[in-house]
Amino acid sequence: MADLTFELIAEDKFSKARAGVVTTDHGVIETPIFMPVGTIGSVKAVTQQQLLNDVKAQIILGNTYHLYLRPGIEILEAAGGLHRFNGWHKPILTDSGGFQVFSLAAQRKITEEGALFRSHIDGSKHMFSPERVMDIQRSIGADIIMAFDECPPYPSTYDYAYNSMNLTHRWLDRCFKRLDETAPKYGYTQNLFPIVQGSTYKDLRKASAEYIASKNSTGVAIGGLSVGEPPEMMYEYCAFTCEHLPWNKPRYLMGVGTPWDLLENISYGVDMFDCVMPTRNGRNAMLFTSKGVINIDNKKWEKDFSPIDDAIGCEVSSYYSKAYLRHLFKAKEILGLQIASIHNLAFYLHLIKEARKKIQEGTFNSWKNEMIPILKSKA
Ligand code: GUN
Repeated sequence: MADLTFELIAEDKFSKARAGVVTTDHGVIETPIFMPVGTIGSVKAVTQQQLLNDVKAQIILGNTYHLYLRPGIEILEAAGGLHRFNGWHKPILTDSGGFQVFSLAAQRKITEEGALFRSHIDGSKHMFSPERVMDIQRSIGADIIMAFDECPPYPSTYDYAYNSMNLTHRWLDRCFKRLDETAPKYGYTQNLFPIVQGSTYKDLRKASAEYIASKNSTGVAIGGLSVGEPPEMMYEYCAFTCEHLPWNKPRYLMGVGTPWDLLENISYGVDMFDCVMPTRNGRNAMLFTSKGVINIDNKKWEKDFSPIDDAIGCEVSSYYSKAYLRHLFKAKEILGLQIASIHNLAFYLHLIKEARKKIQEGTFNSWKNEMIPILKSKA
């Protein structure tokens, strides 16, 4: 049982990109890394075996809000935690639920104490406070757990963003206090990552990053971005925030993004990413490939019997053809959703592994600039 560690193994000369190794009690994560989203403890349409063998995932996400509502902490505790419940024995990170309470729950009310809300499933009433959310995350048992924060909408007024950031900071102190007072339930260490907020105000972002940096955490997160602002603005505020974060801790940019967003933000010094995009867009017929973006519903692919993508070392992507996958989508066959989800995730994991290799070889920045137009193009 040991705290998470982060070892930097390479730094790019022409950007702020870094390659590192995060070590947790459930194994190592090579950074930069993309973390598939498994909201209720399952990555939609993908089995744990496929995540390991085809996608080559190293860590997955769960969500406190969803897991608390279903299956509930009683069942998770009886199972011995989420790793035992879902059979994923590598690292897991759980988001705190703050973001979901504000985006999904009905009738939410925020006070100093926490957030009162009604479940989006059955309308039942619940209260999340920093203490409660830490207790729930103890019961879920993820290796990395997120602070309970408020993610202000975009755009927010300066006053709203200022007050919200200060509330997030007070909640953070309560999260740390609660963790100090409680022990992990399953015999391995849980690491709390604080989250930088501050909306799109640089003085607030700087103050929040400095506050978060002053805490004795093993990693840090950048929140409140990719909430509707233009991509260039997200890049600018992520880069700015990174400049005020400690160099020796892993940095997690929450909820980002497209393949090109990953490369851009890696160049600012981000180490960890999560996003529903590869799975959600995959289920909606959008594929990310090494030749650009594909809409597999398009008639253009009707008789294209070439592999979905044979350049990423994923058996599923090189085995099935575009024409066959299009046929599955047209027929609304569930196998189509599985193949598209596995392919998109495998593509993200392949791309980020390539980025890591380029950082180590010293060619990341020029490679990134060559790759972005290709990734964005319509195949
Ligand atoms: N997911 C995406 N953005 C955020 C954020 O700002 N806070 C939390 N808790 N989760 C997120």
